[in-house]
Amino acid sequence: MNNKEINLPNHLGIIMDGNGRWATEREKPRWEGHKAGAKNLETLLPYIYNKGIPYVSIYAFSTENFKRDKKEVDYLMDLFITIFNKKLSPIKKMGVKIVFSGRRENIKSEVWKAMKELEEETHQGKKGVLNICLNYGGQYEIVDMTKKVAELVLNNQLSVSEITKEKIEENLYQQLPPLDYVIRTSGEKRTSNFMIYQAAYAEYYFPNTYFPDFDEKEFECAIEEYNKRKRRFGGN
Ligand code: IPE
Ligand code: IPE
Ligand code: MG
Repeated sequence: MNNKEINLPNHLGIIMDGNGRWATEREKPRWEGHKAGAKNLETLLPYIYNKGIPYVSIYAFSTENFKRDKKEVDYLMDLFITIFNKKLSPIKKMGVKIVFSGRRENIKSEVWKAMKELEEETHQGKKGVLNICLNYGGQYEIVDMTKKVAELVLNNQLSVSEITKEKIEENLYQQLPPLDYVIRTSGEKRTSNFMIYQAAYAEYYFPNTYFPDFDEKEFECAIEEYNKRKRRFGGN
């Protein structure tokens, strides 16, 4: 395919699933799968931004993932610090702005500190935006938005008739364009609470590949698939 003819999503979502199964199939502990997933992210993200996709949202940890064994949760939290400090260096150097979506509660202070530092360090980035969903749940995002809008109404800063789609979007965690394409690796065909508002008209793609193996070649297959989709947005 000629590069000029390729239609790229403006905002891509990735539900990075299958780390555990990747490890189990290799008779390794689950944490090895998370480590391999982080390694993959380090090369995949620069590739995506270099390709020309400006907005990327990744699902790193759901609110519901706190139900996992404490050891796995602790490992993941430590891994996030390593990812923020090392694995994201290539895209930081490229000038990608990094933001987070999710709730503060239950996040250890070291992790929160690393998140805030990363946002601060990259806030002037112009190359693109990486939105990391961590302790994130789409339903909670809607609850949190509703609380913010209700506060505005209670404080007489907004009337009920002024609650519009735009007002709702202004009060989500981040102000990002709608998701065009959501890739969920590992063959699971569900959203698991990932950006359910923003994905209203997104195309979905569910490759069987586990996230640690979802490399540049797999990504190109995903883009090829995206180019086969006919988006209609309710029109004819
Ligand atoms: C995704 O991989 C990573 C996180 C949810 C943090 P999983 O850990 O869910 O891997 P599987 O689904 O058990 O294979
Ligand atoms: C969704 O994956 C969350 C992330 C990839 C971070 P899960 O593996 O937690 O989702 P379920 O439990 O299979 O729906
Ligand atoms: Mg999973």
